Amino acid sequence: MDKKTIFSGIQPSGSLTLGNYIGALRNFSELQDEYNCLYCIVDLHAITVAQEPKELRKNTLDVLALYLAAGIDPEKSTIFIQSHVPQHAELGWCLNTITPLGQLQRMTQFKDKSQRTKEVDAGLLNYPTLMAADILLYQADSVPVGADQKQHLELTRDIAQRFNSRYSDTFTVPEIMTPKVGAKIMSLQEPQYKMSKSSSDKDSYILILDSEDETRKKIKKAVTDSVGVVNFTDEQPGIKNLITIYSSLTGKTPEDIVKMYEGKGYGEFKSDVAEVVVEGLRPIRTKFEEIRNDKEYLEKVYREGAQKASFLGTKTLRKVHKKMGFIPR
Ligand code: AMP
Ligand code: TRP
Repeated sequence: MDKKTIFSGIQPSGSLTLGNYIGALRNFSELQDEYNCLYCIVDLHAITVAQEPKELRKNTLDVLALYLAAGIDPEKSTIFIQSHVPQHAELGWCLNTITPLGQLQRMTQFKDKSQRTKEVDAGLLNYPTLMAADILLYQADSVPVGADQKQHLELTRDIAQRFNSRYSDTFTVPEIMTPKVGAKIMSLQEPQYKMSKSSSDKDSYILILDSEDETRKKIKKAVTDSVGVVNFTDEQPGIKNLITIYSSLTGKTPEDIVKMYEGKGYGEFKSDVAEVVVEGLRPIRTKFEEIRNDKEYLEKVYREGAQKASFLGTKTLRKVHKKMGFIPR
């Protein structure tokens, strides 16, 4: 039987956080043997908020090097940069024409981001139709992402179904794939919000590329509570988040962790969490340093990736054009 297809993407809009790692990146390499995987660096999405061009170029290669450092193997998976495959934008345009405006205006990510900027550009609103295009272009069966992308995935499914019923069966309707533990890593300072690289408080997130000392410091400073007992409960969101991080990096269940720290204080618990994170990220940090400077290798990977992706994308786009009534080129 043919392997099923996986598609996922990460925006090069800054350095990646521990949340990106646990919620998404870490799971990518595990899927490579069982699935036909495409992993994209979604620079067209990144520009929906203002980017410094020089920074964007650097961040794009950083994400590529992190993909490789996290064990994605270009011999097994297709790794590429979104803007190198113009079919994404082309299909995104077509999908915009069958997506109700109200549905885009209801997306929570759009509402959050548009509240934070003075002028809201059309690209921010249309972000989810481009994301749908990313996924549908490759007829992906599953999309590994963090829990924050659930609404976008539901919209993608709606768009696929709408297209299929209007123009006859064309797209695979994709499923979301979220990790059992760690689908939403929270801020270390305000654990009611997700950990995000766009936060202005640097202590609220750990970057994959932070130094080991910085990582330890940030975990020691993480907000806890006055209960003083290591419990996995919504009443103690700070501690719950640290248990989640510990659990997702060690495979120990939250219950096991709670038992291990019975009668022990937060100080000891936090030092152990810090070591788990430092150890967990060390291999990827080390590999990143090796790979990031090898410009030739990075270029080879993204060029070959774009070629493979473009070939597959063209097939779907041709079908779409035909069904929508365009004259074949
Ligand atoms: P982004 O940085 O927004 O492109 O996100 C890349 C991937 O990381 C997506 O699959 C997100 O769902 C995931 N992600 C981002 N932040 C978190 C978080 N705090 N916890 C878990 N997953 C996350
Ligand atoms: N919207 C995703 C995020 O912010 C990034 C993304 C763009 C994506 N296109 C995608 C994720 C396609 C999965 C599949 O995390």
